[in-house]
Amino acid sequence: MPVHEPVLTREVLAFLAPERGGVFVDCTVGLGGHAKAMLDAGATRVIGLDRDPAALAMAAETLRAWRDRVDLVHSDYRAIDAVLEERGIARIDGALADLGMSSFQLEAEGRGFSFQREDPLDMRMDTTTGATAAQLLRDAEESQIADVIYRYGEERFSRRIARSIVHRREQEPIQTTGQLASIVRHAIPRRGFSRIDPATRTFQAIRIWVNRELENLDAFLAAVVTRLQTGARMVARIASSNTRCARWRNARMPRFVS
Ligand SMILES: C[S@@+](CC[C@H](N)C(=O)[O-])C[C@H]1O[C@@H](n2cnc3c(N)ncnc32)[C@H](O)[C@@H]1O
Repeated sequence: MPVHEPVLTREVLAFLAPERGGVFVDCTVGLGGHAKAMLDAGATRVIGLDRDPAALAMAAETLRAWRDRVDLVHSDYRAIDAVLEERGIARIDGALADLGMSSFQLEAEGRGFSFQREDPLDMRMDTTTGATAAQLLRDAEESQIADVIYRYGEERFSRRIARSIVHRREQEPIQTTGQLASIVRHAIPRRGFSRIDPATRTFQAIRIWVNRELENLDAFLAAVVTRLQTGARMVARIASSNTRCARWRNARMPRFVS
């Protein structure tokens, strides 16, 4: 299966230096492109984590030729301690966290991440557990919805959008991406032409909420630093929405690149 070159592969390899050999954890293995590059470059063993079972199946395909040096684990990266414990690994030589969502998830049918297609409003990266976006929007208070959209989406019309969501859900259940996108587009005043769809920030915010992205990142960064050998390296590629949280942790990281 052809895997497109993941972003910043050259930079990731230059910094992680897997040619030293050793155990590396790809905390967000995705389609396996970065893990493949690490193995190709000389990593002795790669432990690949992902919370999305569909991504892991694709990574297994990508990494088939290296399967005796790869361990793919369905896990949230915040559980990195338990994953290493189970394998009797005290310290690792490097870790990669390529945070956010993959293009595969954004484009896959039925996941609900994109406002550009009609899908059930799910948005869970781990499809085996947790509440969907539709469930959270059904049950949350208006003020909580507004806070989420403001904090995670930096959307200044968050209160109007939350009010429109609550108004709509009193009339009918909000169950699809199309419904949510339409509510947001109607709630935001139009001012001239913008290349960004008005639903962009709200979709991002709700995705971060559904997947508890900031809480998970915080717990993960606290755990991973205790697992790095002396001289080990860690690379995190951080989407803008997660940057604030990561900066907060920055001071505690031995060496941190974003
Ligand atoms: C940008 S993609 C990674 C792409 C990957 N580097 C590659 O080469 O294909 C991010 C991946 O991280 C996963 N992910 C996001 N949050 C996670 C978490 N808390 N724990 C484990 N995996 C997570 C997503 O499911 C997604 O597959």
